[in-house]
Amino acid sequence: MSQSHPRISKAVIPAAGLGTRFLPATKATPKEMLPVVDKPAIQYVVEEAVSAGLDDVLMVTGRNKRPLEDHFDRNYELESALGKKGDAARLAKVQESSDLATMHYVRQGDPKGLGHAVLCAAPHVGDEPFAVLLGDDLIDPRDPLLQRMIEVQQEHGGSVIALMEVAPEQIHLYGSAAVEATADADVVKVSGLVEKPTAEEAPSHYAVIGRYVLDPAVFGILRKTEPGRGGEIQLTDALQQLAADETVGGPVHGVVFKGRRYDTGDRGDYLRAIVRLACEREDLGPDFRAWLRRYVTEEMQQR
Ligand code: G1P
Repeated sequence: MSQSHPRISKAVIPAAGLGTRFLPATKATPKEMLPVVDKPAIQYVVEEAVSAGLDDVLMVTGRNKRPLEDHFDRNYELESALGKKGDAARLAKVQESSDLATMHYVRQGDPKGLGHAVLCAAPHVGDEPFAVLLGDDLIDPRDPLLQRMIEVQQEHGGSVIALMEVAPEQIHLYGSAAVEATADADVVKVSGLVEKPTAEEAPSHYAVIGRYVLDPAVFGILRKTEPGRGGEIQLTDALQQLAADETVGGPVHGVVFKGRRYDTGDRGDYLRAIVRLACEREDLGPDFRAWLRRYVTEEMQQR
């Protein structure tokens, strides 16, 4: 690892979205708090940041997001009740989320897009490279992506994005990157980016997924970025500018991810994430898998 690039210690998690795809569940509960098995989706994301060595976490929140702050804070009432009962296992579960990382919060105010959310982190981040983790993207804890992105950033400097190959009919849901191969099979150089292109406009099948390691030069660009797709200030548009001119904030590289990723903002993928992660759990997995096998067999007999 090169010593010339500053160490990355801060993670930014934009969490101001309305979660309309999950209404009515998200009418009074932030979508980030929806459970994936028995942990809120957002806790997996914070755990991922921490296991990549980033224990300073800034959440960019909005109205109705108080439960997020409460979840990562102590809950003395619950802790003392469980303590009195001698329920050490559950007490540990309650304390896990508050002991995880040093949490900070900033409010986005007007939801003007992902680029704007990231810009809200500027005063906290300062002049250091930092990571951005989107709460809707759940990366399977067994497939470490962020660690690899940090490694690539420390080697090349500049910014690093996460890419995944998707089918042409899926690309309009993502940012898409124009790429060139590098000496590392899982690393590409990014020469351009387009936010949510049609299949015809897309520069490649490489979709941007919700993990970024960014040079702080992105803030200066975001300040000048006009609203783009959907009338929102797009992070992809700022990254396009970084990729177009390396003198501003260094190169942009992409790490091609082939592991398991779930879009917990999508109801189908959310259910798949729960099934997959429940199957892998030591406590729940054996029974759940046995039931799932019976259920699938019954389903197949009926069709
Ligand atoms: C955002 C980004 C997009 C990226 C996607 C990954 O879009 O703007 O470039 O591909 O996250 O999940 P959103 O899904 O928030 O509309």
